[in-house]
Amino acid sequence: MQRLQDRVAVITGAGSGIGLATAHRFAQEGAKVVCVDIDEEAGAKAATDVGGLFVKADVTSEDDVQRMYATAIEVYGGLDIAFNNAGISPPEDDSILETGLEAWRRVQEVNLTSVYLCCKYAIEHMRRRGKGSIINTASFVAVMGSATSQISYTASKGGVLAMSRELGVQFAREGIRVNALCPGPVNTPLLRELFAKDPERAQRRLVHVPVGRFAEASEIAAAVAFLASDDASFITASQFLVDGGISGAYVTPL
Ligand SMILES: NC(=O)c1ccc[n+]([C@@H]2O[C@H](COP(=O)([O-])OP(=O)(O)OC[C@H]3O[C@@H](n4cnc5c(N)ncnc54)[C@H](O)[C@@H]3O)[C@@H](O)[C@H]2O)c1
Repeated sequence: MQRLQDRVAVITGAGSGIGLATAHRFAQEGAKVVCVDIDEEAGAKAATDVGGLFVKADVTSEDDVQRMYATAIEVYGGLDIAFNNAGISPPEDDSILETGLEAWRRVQEVNLTSVYLCCKYAIEHMRRRGKGSIINTASFVAVMGSATSQISYTASKGGVLAMSRELGVQFAREGIRVNALCPGPVNTPLLRELFAKDPERAQRRLVHVPVGRFAEASEIAAAVAFLASDDASFITASQFLVDGGISGAYVTPL
């Protein structure tokens, strides 16, 4: 499929995981991909692998965010797709009983303030052209509570979801679509390592997944490519769940 032929896409957090898989998928579908990451080595490798452009940026910096779009426009001539995906979930962010203000604020900055900045400046460019698709990475924890809490992470993703909905509504008549992507748990190296060490921890989570496994990053990337493309032309302001049925489940199959 070449649904994104010659579209210019900026992906934050493109050096790893969901962002990296999406960079590959976008490139396969014909997009010109700008890979943004704070990790120079990983981001540059991603860009080389997909024949795109690397921009080193910290998404919590207003100057960096403005610069990454300016570079995309300068090199590729426009901005069609913004996938605002960079995020963190550090171990210091835990139960509300344990989590200090510094950890709380850091997660809010990277996961939520960054999305505010990335949307603010993407929308500015997209309004001029009267079109664009923005996909913001939230999470299934934006719609469900977890007893294994990461309180600032969850609150940040709830913020991403509400902000995406509001922007989707506000700019719908200007041809700009804004959707919140809500992935379930994804099979990342970090997750594999954690669960190999602690199978009980993995089982506690897996029991809630009707499909019976975690997602592959490529499965999340497929959903992002759909939302980015004209196939999703009537989808905006949505909470787009890609969660293997977790949020719909009461009792799961044995
Ligand atoms: N992995 C999951 O199970 C899962 C589930 C639901 C939602 N998510 C969300 O999906 C997104 C991507 O997750 P992932 O698992 O692919 O993560 P990852 O850690 O594999 O990749 C995140 C990338 O973002 C980059 N990054 C971090 N801080 C940055 C900053 N300040 N500026 C620029 N780049 C920065 C990192 O260097 C890294 O390359 C995150 O928003 C995460 O919260 C992940």
